[in-house]
Amino acid sequence: MPELASRAHLQKIAEVIDQARVDAGGKPLDAVAYTRGPGLMGPLLVGKVAAQTLSHILGLPLVPVNHLEGHIFATELTQPIRFPLVALIVSGGHTDLVYTRGPGRYRVLGRTRDDAAGEAFDKVARLLGLGYPGGPVIDRLARQGDPKAVPLPRPLMPETWDFSFAGLKTAVLYHTQRRGFPKKPLGGQEVKDLCASFQQAVVDTLVFKLLRAAEEYGARDVVIGGGVAANSRLREDVTARALEKGLRAAMPPRELCTDNGAMIAQVALHRLRQGRVSRRYRSEPALAFENWAA
Ligand code: KG4
Ligand code: ZN
Repeated sequence: MPELASRAHLQKIAEVIDQARVDAGGKPLDAVAYTRGPGLMGPLLVGKVAAQTLSHILGLPLVPVNHLEGHIFATELTQPIRFPLVALIVSGGHTDLVYTRGPGRYRVLGRTRDDAAGEAFDKVARLLGLGYPGGPVIDRLARQGDPKAVPLPRPLMPETWDFSFAGLKTAVLYHTQRRGFPKKPLGGQEVKDLCASFQQAVVDTLVFKLLRAAEEYGARDVVIGGGVAANSRLREDVTARALEKGLRAAMPPRELCTDNGAMIAQVALHRLRQGRVSRRYRSEPALAFENWAA
């Protein structure tokens, strides 16, 4: 049974719409966009019904949008992006490597075979008793740690564009067990070093694959998006290593890496400009990338 719309979702959506209209500052609206999927059925339904209602009341077109495309185009909210490009979507649920020649034209090159990148951060943080979500706290602790302190594997798997982070997570677990954890607590510096080492192993793997795909597919830009794209080491390393290869790394400001409505509006804008607004309104929890450009 899918999760049903909760009272909290229903209350939040009204606040979000009110705030969006304040932020729009009375500017005329072109359309009402909403997320068709992927995601949890409850919030997807609440968003859809709210968007349908607004579109009806305001007499504006209704534009269903794929959440994953939103993470690619979030970057465009603050800077132009150049096609073709290879995008890396890294969130709590996704690790997708996608080649695109423009809005509505996608080729998924690889994805995770087990844990998503964000999930790996969350699981390692839970193991170390650092709370949820794990990404931001590991990011912060890693700044005071040595990324070379703990030797951890880089799951590069050069024969495929897919990713796998389960082994890395297990390597972290074994390391802590060898140190006598959880019977014996880890020292403060030990935790920081482990966070830095784990983060570096994830970042090295992500950046290696992203840049290699970009070279192979003749991309002009590489783009990162999703919650893990807020990671400071990932942002620094992808920028520096792309430059070494004559590529440009583009990414949203931190606050637009995590889920937001602006990125959904940006995708809707492309659909409207190209006259390719979808009539598939149904919420799809497992929606994948779909091509829609002419
Ligand atoms: O895109 P997102 O906000 O939600 C979805 O999963 O759709 O991503 C959340 C994920 C969480 O796993 C969180 O730990 C991770 O993004 N995250 C980070 C950072 N900030 C959030 N991971 C690494 N470093 C961060 N600074
Ligand atoms: Zn997301």
